Amino acid sequence: MARILITSALPYINGIKHLGNLAGSMLPADVFARFQRSRGNETLYICATDEHGTPAELAAAAAGQDVRTYCDEQHVLQHDIGRAFGLSWDWFGRSSNPPNHRLTQHFAEVLEKKGLIEERTDKMVYSVDDRRFLPDRYVEGTCPHCGYEKARGDQCDNCGALLDPIDLKNPYSVISGSTNIEVRDTRHLYLLQTKLEDRIRAWVDARADNWPGLTRGIAYKHLDEGLIDRGITRDLEWGIPVMKDGAPRPGFETKVFYVWFDAPIEYIGATEEWAEATGGDWKRWWREDAGADDVEYVQFMGKDNVAFHAVTFPGTIIGSEEPWKHVDRLKAFNWLNWYGGKFSTSSRRGVFMDAALELLPPDLWRWYLTANAPEGSDTAFTWEQFQSSVNRDLADVLGNFVNRIAKFNEARFEGLVPAGGEPGPLEEKLYADVSAQLIELTAQMDAIEMRKAAQAVRALWVLGNEYLQEAAPWTAIKTDRDRAAVVVRTGLNLAALYARVSAPFIPFAAEKITEAFGEPWPPTWPSMGAAVELSRLEPGRPVSAPEVLFRKVEDEQVVEWTERFGGTDQA
Ligand code: MF3
Ligand code: ZN
Repeated sequence: MARILITSALPYINGIKHLGNLAGSMLPADVFARFQRSRGNETLYICATDEHGTPAELAAAAAGQDVRTYCDEQHVLQHDIGRAFGLSWDWFGRSSNPPNHRLTQHFAEVLEKKGLIEERTDKMVYSVDDRRFLPDRYVEGTCPHCGYEKARGDQCDNCGALLDPIDLKNPYSVISGSTNIEVRDTRHLYLLQTKLEDRIRAWVDARADNWPGLTRGIAYKHLDEGLIDRGITRDLEWGIPVMKDGAPRPGFETKVFYVWFDAPIEYIGATEEWAEATGGDWKRWWREDAGADDVEYVQFMGKDNVAFHAVTFPGTIIGSEEPWKHVDRLKAFNWLNWYGGKFSTSSRRGVFMDAALELLPPDLWRWYLTANAPEGSDTAFTWEQFQSSVNRDLADVLGNFVNRIAKFNEARFEGLVPAGGEPGPLEEKLYADVSAQLIELTAQMDAIEMRKAAQAVRALWVLGNEYLQEAAPWTAIKTDRDRAAVVVRTGLNLAALYARVSAPFIPFAAEKITEAFGEPWPPTWPSMGAAVELSRLEPGRPVSAPEVLFRKVEDEQVVEWTERFGGTDQA
């Protein structure tokens, strides 16, 4: 039995996430976690809200709340909506919780001891009108690399470059809009990434062959551009205090750690929260000197996060020279766009997780977003594509199959798995085809190729429809009851198998089928050939037709939602 640690990028606390956020980290991580659990692997899926930094402060200010109250409320909202989507986190923590404070301060202390952190006086953007420094997202301006005019102080959303606020051309304050901006001296802690660069590159070299092209490309792009020493503290009130020898660090009383320094550490912190709550052993997952050396650690994230996970955070861990668990595989995603443009949190463009669930059950979203995951390139959400994908795949192919076979069994065999007859050539062919697809599916799941895995699941569903069509139990029943029994028994077994292999993608429907068929939940992943996997339901077992699995998305709904959510190509 393997042990698999899974994390998905921590969603910022600043409001309910949109479908693009879900599709690019939390949802594929959940699909993978469910797959691993059903294979019997010991699996821990950890996520948390990312609560510090300017995104939190700006959003709290916009909501007219103090930051702590804002974060308390938003954490609960994000937790509940994630659960409603079926996200099977083993723990959903908070980067503002005590374990992350302790760990972040610990890492800073160790890195300083190793000569990798130093205090420097540096120039920072200061807003005269706001009478304060403007770290990160508190300042916007023109990107020095690509000329995009609304680049944020920390990162350009257009070209992806990581920025320092003083690099921005024509800067303005996000608080007041003021352009009365000066550059002033202030003291900060710097992480000396220049001293770590060789070690980080060697570390990447040793494992990047295992990473998907998207991750590898971004990691080397950043390494090749050359690492620079980065400020890891900010002039902000909300965040993790900067300490020295157990007391506030002199000169840093009004400063905190930079959000991107503490956030990835919360992967560990959240595991500690999980351990506190459940009696688990977090070190077994994170410390190589406590058993974590046989953990496989897989991270999920959008492409804008790769540099932090492939270079910066590894730098923190490598620099500590402590035996922390390193990531083994980084799975990154491109953007899911909203028609021709971007989802936008600030202008509420696109569908957000709460609105999505008001419209339709989670499985429909989960299916669409994994079957069309932005894996190889950016992809665009359109209502038409969504409608055709879920209607065709879920309603016409899977839903129809399960319903048809279960109803027929109720009508002709009293809802009991029928006995009698022997599998013939049609079944032999089915076994061969299903076995081949199961191997393909399992391989794609292992490789975290979401689209290909979804295709393989769908191919399995299609095989069932083709088989029923050919084997035609409704004809056989008239002349040869045993033959009809074989086909119906095989069909019911197919439906039960579908529940097991579809569960990572559409857990709610899978559970309904499982229940109706008297199968165990949570399900186990098929590990045998189809001849065995399709002979599991013993004759005589009662199976009922599950209630409607998927309702079709109607044309009128598409028209209404297009209107309501501004589904147009205008950005
Ligand atoms: N909150 C960040 C974002 O949404 C992701 C943080 S991931 C972690 O882009 F590494 F900090 F955990
Ligand atoms: Zn740019």
